[in-house]
Amino acid sequence: MAGAGDGSSRDAGGVPDGLGGTGRNGCSLAHGYDTARTGVVCPSVRIVPWRGCSAGQRPAPDRIIRYRSRRSRDHALVDELVEEPAEEPLAGGNVTPGVVRVGDTVRRPAGPWTPAVHAVLTHLESVGYPHAPRSLGLDERGRHVVEHVPGEVADTFPPPRWPYREALVRIGRVVRSLHDALEGFVPPPDVRWNRVIPPDREELVVHHDLAPWNLVRGPGEVDGARLVVIDWDLVAPGTRLWDLSYAAHAFVPLAPGTRTARAAVGLCALADGYDLDEPGRRELAGLLARRTRSMYDLLRRGAAAGSQPWAGLWEAGHGRSWLADTAWIDEHEEDLRRALLDG
Ligand SMILES: Nc1ncnc2c1ncn2[C@@H]1O[C@H](COP(=O)(O)OP(=O)(O)OP(=O)(O)O)[C@@H](O)[C@H]1O
Ligand SMILES: [Mg+2]
Repeated sequence: MAGAGDGSSRDAGGVPDGLGGTGRNGCSLAHGYDTARTGVVCPSVRIVPWRGCSAGQRPAPDRIIRYRSRRSRDHALVDELVEEPAEEPLAGGNVTPGVVRVGDTVRRPAGPWTPAVHAVLTHLESVGYPHAPRSLGLDERGRHVVEHVPGEVADTFPPPRWPYREALVRIGRVVRSLHDALEGFVPPPDVRWNRVIPPDREELVVHHDLAPWNLVRGPGEVDGARLVVIDWDLVAPGTRLWDLSYAAHAFVPLAPGTRTARAAVGLCALADGYDLDEPGRRELAGLLARRTRSMYDLLRRGAAAGSQPWAGLWEAGHGRSWLADTAWIDEHEEDLRRALLDG
């Protein structure tokens, strides 16, 4: 899962302020393009094959040419041809419809929380944090534009040739450096977060969805591959350990399919990479089940209220899976605590 926005906050509407870019009034929150407001009529779309290739040789076009209606100086409605990069739908998420790639950017539906996301990503760029995409503002359709990061996204971790312990240490370092980089972040006034689960406490702004499915991995071995965390729509106040618990569940993973001994190694490696001290390790052990259960609660509440995307995910069995993982963590909590404390 997890992802961004319960039905109500999505529908809260409102056009994000505080971002660069154009076309704020064209903002469409969740369901693709608002052609009525943008004035894009699009009666015909012509695909332009790559130079030197026949149309059949490339799976996707790099540019499209389409008609756009606009008012001329004497207010007559005229059609003109415009050429723009083609849009490629990006699958892989469970929560945000309409995420597309356009050239070397990704466009995603904006919401009232988008200025906060932009501010966080801009801060991370300004302090030189290497594991986040750049935020580029809004496009002419009001969508949030972020850097497209080349690489692989997977539901599971680590990738086949990466040694398990080293891979988890690496993730621990990525998360630690993220939290350290966010320590100095001062949110803009009147900021609106996309808060779908209340955290244990609030000490700094954290990601809230650190998981293999939100990690782009570049080519290379465990210490050399570029790792970039994507999908920042849930960024909001929380605690370091709340965020790390979620990452532990997803990356180790803490779930019935994992042997206890392996989970112990993975969890300890994650904490080592994070350079977590002893009180932190004790607290983390006690938070793991609670953090995992909070996802189950979100889906259960969403299903009862009929709010999407949670109701759909519940229907597809995600609630059962988060509950089973919570039970597994409860059952193994003592082993996990011992692994964290004794190494
Ligand atoms: N900045 C990016 N660079 C490269 N690929 C990206 C980027 N942002 C999104 N993607 C791709 O688009 C897919 C969907 O995006 P995203 O994870 O933001 O959707 P989501 O529905 O909010 O996901 P989730 O289920 O984790 O909440 C990702 O799985 C990834 O393959
Ligand atoms: Mg995602």
